[in-house]
Order: sequence, then C-alpha cells, then structure tokens
Amino acid sequence: MCGIVGYIGKKNSLPILIDGLKRLEYRGYDSAGVSIINDNNEIVSFKRAGKVLDLDNSIDKDKFEGTIGIGHTRWATHGVPNDINAHPHCDMEYLFTLVHNGIIENYKHIKEKLKEENYIFHTDTDTEVLANLINYHFKKTNDFEKAVRLALVEVEGTYGIACLCVKEPDKIIVARKGSPLMLGIGNEETIVSSDASAIINHTKNVIYLNDGEMAVLGRNGFHLKTVEDEDIFRDVEVLDFLLDEIEKGGYDHFMLKEICEQPDTIQNTYRGRINFDTGVAKLGGLENIADKLFNAKRIIITACGTAWHAALVGEYMIEHYCRIPTEVEYASEFRYRRPILNSDDVVILISQSGETADTLAALREAKKAGATTLGIVNVIGSTIAREVEAGTYIHAGPEIGVASTKAFTCQIMSLALITLMIAAEKGTISKRKLIDLAGDIKALPEKIKHMVNRKEEYKKVAEAFVDCRNFLYLGRGFNFPVALEGALKLKEISYIHAEGYPAAEMKHGPIALIDNDMPVVFIAPLDRTYDKIISNIEEVKARRGRIIAIANDDDKNITDYADHVLRVPHTKALLAGIINVIPLQFLAYYIAAARGLDVDKPRNLAKSVTVE
Ligand code: AGP
Repeated sequence: MCGIVGYIGKKNSLPILIDGLKRLEYRGYDSAGVSIINDNNEIVSFKRAGKVLDLDNSIDKDKFEGTIGIGHTRWATHGVPNDINAHPHCDMEYLFTLVHNGIIENYKHIKEKLKEENYIFHTDTDTEVLANLINYHFKKTNDFEKAVRLALVEVEGTYGIACLCVKEPDKIIVARKGSPLMLGIGNEETIVSSDASAIINHTKNVIYLNDGEMAVLGRNGFHLKTVEDEDIFRDVEVLDFLLDEIEKGGYDHFMLKEICEQPDTIQNTYRGRINFDTGVAKLGGLENIADKLFNAKRIIITACGTAWHAALVGEYMIEHYCRIPTEVEYASEFRYRRPILNSDDVVILISQSGETADTLAALREAKKAGATTLGIVNVIGSTIAREVEAGTYIHAGPEIGVASTKAFTCQIMSLALITLMIAAEKGTISKRKLIDLAGDIKALPEKIKHMVNRKEEYKKVAEAFVDCRNFLYLGRGFNFPVALEGALKLKEISYIHAEGYPAAEMKHGPIALIDNDMPVVFIAPLDRTYDKIISNIEEVKARRGRIIAIANDDDKNITDYADHVLRVPHTKALLAGIINVIPLQFLAYYIAAARGLDVDKPRNLAKSVTVE
C-alpha cells in the first residue's frame, strides 16, 4: 500500500529519501512527505498532496539538510488525500514524527482516551493518533524506545512505522505488524523501507522484520527486538535482483517494459524445473509437502485480483490433467465465511507481492484449520512466502507497473508446472502427452517474443478504440479467466468500463448491452470450442457489435466475422492463458497510453493492497 523509506548514516538524507519515494511510488501516490533531523537537531517536515515529483519540485532543499530522515508515499485509508493528511504526522507537541503504513483499527477509542487527557488533533488520520499515543507514553517513561513499544502494544490493527524523536535525535525507530518493512545494511548507514526497490541501489544486504518486531537504528548500527522487549538476532540476507530490473530501460512505462519482458520471465519460471525429455516437473520448494499434494482430496486456490484470475486457470488445469477437485476462492471471502477445511486439503495461495492482506489472512486461516499451505509468490522474502509451509517463486523479477502483467503469465506457468508434477505422479496423463506439453512450454518464449515483436499491430487496433466507454471480453474454457483478466487490465489503467464473461453466458444477460458502440473482444483460438465461439460472434454481429478477435495466425476464416484480429501463435490449452492474454495486455496498455493516462500509476490503485 503506502511506501516508507528512512535513512540514517553520513550522507545528506533528502536525495536518498526522494529517490526511494520515487521507487516506492507504485505502492501508493495520493500524497508524499519527508521529515529530516537537521544540524540543529530540529525535525523539519514537508508534505503535500500529489505525486513525489510535486514534492521534489516544491521542497526547499537548502532547508532540508541532515543525515537522518524518513519519508512516505501514501495511499489514503483514513482521511482524504490532501496536504494535511499526508505523512509524516506529529504529536501535538511536535516531539515525535511518524510515517505509517497500515490501519490502526482502535484509533477512535485511543483518540477519545487521549482527548480526555487534553490531547489535540489536527488531522483525520489514525497515524496522528499513534504519534500522540507515543507522546503519552513518553511523558511517563521519558524514553523514546519504551514509549514506542508501549504504544504499539496498545494498538490493534496493522502497522509498518518509522519514527523520529526530537529528544533523541540520533535514532530512527521502526516496527512492523502486518505491513512489510526491511532494513538495508550499508557501510556506516542503514536504509529502512517497505520494499527492496528503495534499498537495492544502496546495498544488497537486508534484514526482514517480522510481525511484532522493531528495530532501533542508530549512527553505529541497529538492534532488533520484539515489541514485548525481547532481543532478536537475525542473519543478513542478500537481495538477488539488479537495479536495472527496477528501472524503465528506455520504455515509456514500466507496464510496457514488463509486458515485453515476458519471453524471459516465463523462461525464468520454468528454468531448471522441468525435464524436457520426460515432461516431468520438479519444484524443489514443494518437496516437503509433495506427498500431501499428490494425495490431496481437494485443492483450494485463493488469491485476489489478477492472481485470482491465474487461480481460475489453475482450477481448469488441475481438474483437467490431475483429476483432483479444485476450488477457487476470493481470499477476501474465504477468510470471513468459515470455510470447511480438512487436513487432507491443500490450499494454494497466489500473490505477486506476497503481502496482500486478504491473501495473507486466508493463509493464516488455512493453517489454523490444519490444511497444507503452498504459496506461489513473486517477491522473495515476502510475508506470504515466509509463512507458507511450502512454495515456489515465480521469478518474474520486480513488477513495478500497478497493473500486473508478467506476474500473471508466470503464475500460470507455475501452476502448469505443479499440474504436470501432480499428473505425472498420479498417472492421470500419458507419458506422450507429458512430453508434448513440455515441448510446448519450451516453445513459449519464442512465441511470446513473436507477439512482442508485433506490438505495433496490436497498437493500431487499440487506437481505433480509444474513445469507447464500455467493452465486453468473452472466452470459453481456459480462456474464460483470460477474458476476465483482459477486462481488468483495461478498466484498471484506461478507466473504461469492461466486463469479462464466459462466452456462452452472454445470451443470459450481457447481450442486451450490444449495439454498435459496444466493442466485444472474443478470445477465439482454434481449439475444441472454436465453432461455439464463432456462433457467439455471429450473435454479436447480428446486433451490430464491433468485434475484436484474438485468433491464431493460421485462422483464415476469422476475418469473415471479426472487424479486427489480434493474431497469436498456437499453443495447447494448458498454456492458452499465457499466450492469449498478451495481446490483451497490449490492447489495454495502448488504449490507456493513447488516452494520455498515467499507466503505471492508475488513479485510486496501489500495487499491493496491505489493508483489508
Ligand atoms: C492487478 O493488475 C491488480 N493491480 C491487482 O488486482 C492485484 O493482482 C491484486 O491486488 C493481488 O495482488 P498480489 O498478487 O500482490 O497479491
């Protein structure tokens, strides 16, 4: 959700904070702010509504010199996104300055209690309440660290915080519960951040904080403890990605870069995990639960958003090839509806960020019920990755564009590998078929490259639809989740209303919407449902809808029906999701870009949703 960065060391902190905020901005971008301890040991703050660039352009840099500072880029939860509600926040006496991710659920109760003690509030935020609660405990203890600890013990909800204190100006105190935070351990400097992108250009050595832990950062290092005051010792881990991976590399937007990276990212997902001679897949991270997976009575896949669409593809794959009953659940529903879970169920959690609050809560729910948990995650060391019993990283590399693209195809790739692994073990697939499918996996990067190279063709079609107000996306079987994903991509970044449906469902309602203003995207590869899809296309055509078809290169027939064709190579049904979504990602991207929209930072969205 929001992004936090902090610096303590020997360098001037402002440029480091601003650079960090720019890298974190994909997490939230309603408003941004910084606080710095200057040479007179005063805390100076500057914050404003809008993007980090606005902050950077309007801050008086001469007044913000100092070697300790904290910064924040916000995605509003409490209070509208304006200058006042932007972070950092202070207590009423300006002793403490705080940036905060997450939600303090009992903030109203604490606010009332503090008001009775004559505390005064200037904002609508829960963060200001926390700053005053720290002040309240400081009055009693006269100790920064103790005051933060006592305040944190009292709050309910989630937090990742970084806090400065004017009375102890050589420290930053940071803490986490439910909102990620990590320390970058540099040479005589420590950088704290809610994710690695703000750390990687300073150091690759990091320490992840766990829930209920805090760190006191000083000029000579740091110490870790729990909020219950127990000391902690933790090994330093090494980040395994490069700075280049989080930069645009000549593309106009991260989203376009990430779409175009897919020939490589897909290969990174399967590299070393499949024997192409036998078709047998092996995922090291699943070995400890392999028996449970092979003997599962039921598989439940849970996720949110795009990852949920990948989960639907997984359901089709696992039932089709492994014959294990599989259900897909929105993580946000799963956690609240008292699901029936047994110890022989396997629950698969899919998450790009590994931090989505609902998916994390679903994971904890599943563990509580005794089910086996398996994560399919991108961000290494993220909370879900650390809390699942077993897991596989998709190795898509950092995904910065808020609209998920390469993570989706890599999630499907991971599900395909899991499917092949189970099917081979259970014997629900022939050896011939396994080798065939593996061959198709091997051919994928070249096929995707072919599509990336024809992006100008996709762009041309996109430009014919820039002014549309609605879209329908229709697909069958493995391509139904692709239709949902295509519609989600379009609405997220272009703000055009779009719906995805199973193609045959159209006549049960959505057909009423069809007229010559309604573009309908049909995912129509030459598979066993092709004739049915053609019938659906004819139904739309008869009502003068405008048809865009995703069709195979050798489908000559399709031009008789569709107004526009986005060509794709052939692939087996197992991998159809990966191939067929790519022109839809381009379609959404080029429509949004032509509308002049900020594709990487669509309004109201945040990259990882760490609040409920
Ligand atoms: C995708 O384009 C979205 N921005 C969103 O739906 C996302 O997939 C969802 O929030 C889940 O995120 P996660 O994969 O990080 O858990």
